[in-house]
Amino acid sequence: QSIVLTGITTTGTPHLGNYVGAIRPAIEASRRHDVLPFYFLADYHALIKCQDPERVNRSTLEIAATWLALGLDTANAVFYRQSDVPEIAELAWMLNCVTAKGLMNRAHAYKAAVQANEDSGEGDPDKGVTMGLFNYPVLMAADILMFNAHKVPVGRDQVQHIEMARDIAGRFNHLYGEHFVLPEAVISEDTATLSGLDGRKMSKSYDNVIPIFLAEKPFRKLINKIKTNSLEPGVPKDPDTCTLYSIYKAFATPEETAAIRRRYEEGIGWGEMKGVLFEYLNEHLKAARERYDALMEAPEKIEEVLQEGAAKAREYSAPLMKKVRASVGIRPLS
Ligand code: TYM
Repeated sequence: QSIVLTGITTTGTPHLGNYVGAIRPAIEASRRHDVLPFYFLADYHALIKCQDPERVNRSTLEIAATWLALGLDTANAVFYRQSDVPEIAELAWMLNCVTAKGLMNRAHAYKAAVQANEDSGEGDPDKGVTMGLFNYPVLMAADILMFNAHKVPVGRDQVQHIEMARDIAGRFNHLYGEHFVLPEAVISEDTATLSGLDGRKMSKSYDNVIPIFLAEKPFRKLINKIKTNSLEPGVPKDPDTCTLYSIYKAFATPEETAAIRRRYEEGIGWGEMKGVLFEYLNEHLKAARERYDALMEAPEKIEEVLQEGAAKAREYSAPLMKKVRASVGIRPLS
């Protein structure tokens, strides 16, 4: 069985980009029996960006409810909260001790923070950079290596982190013996990055996201806000540079997508296309939205599933950690 693992940071409400880039392919994989999936809520990662406890807590529930409402097969998949598996934080420390600082200097998230400080001309390039942010890829390596994942399905923005996890695993194995599988990133090419309201990548940090389970009315409103060019109805339009089209394509079948391409050639108006997109997505998400709303009313049910998941995860993490502790010369926990 091949081990597939992926996580989502619990800082916000899950959006269509998370769905298309991570949740949907992960749920599809959860139904395959040649795969053992590990899916988790990265709440330790959330602390790097968010110091609002209420928000971290709420987001954790929302993301868990989202996976369950969208049909995650929890009989096959191991579905858990990162912080419920204490071995992960322990492993992160051990990995920290074999990871070169120079490798972390090259991490995108850290570099972007330093660049923003330099651009603002404020003098201190490390302003606002915590050790949590700097170490982010090491914690992520611990998430992955803890379960010896072979494949890690992620959006393109995360690929560097998987490469770093490979490097770190290689280094640890070299020093202490072959404990870890070298993981590989899996990106689905056609839907690698979904665009948001303003046409840039849909992302919490750009404030341009469309939440998956927004109620119907605000959902329609948000879709009407997607940026388009100013071409009038009747004028042929280029689907390949249009956010409405790219979102439609991420959900529709190839036949439906081809039919919409023809409508672009015929000069469909933006108002009409927004209506088409709303109807399509709404129909597609309606039943899951009802399941989501019901789950959010019953957080104890969500918690039950997460606790079962954590217990399953620890069946894997505890023995591996025992081996790892012995290999570095630390006494086993009794
Ligand atoms: P996060 O929470 O930022 O995003 C979760 C997943 O969604 C993908 N994604 C997108 N894909 C396509 N289009 C978009 N617009 C879009 N926005 C987000 C991300 O690439 C990601 O796959 N550090 C990770 C969480 C994490 C993790 C891990 C992932 C922690 N440990 C171990 C895999 C393995 C993160 O912040 O993802």
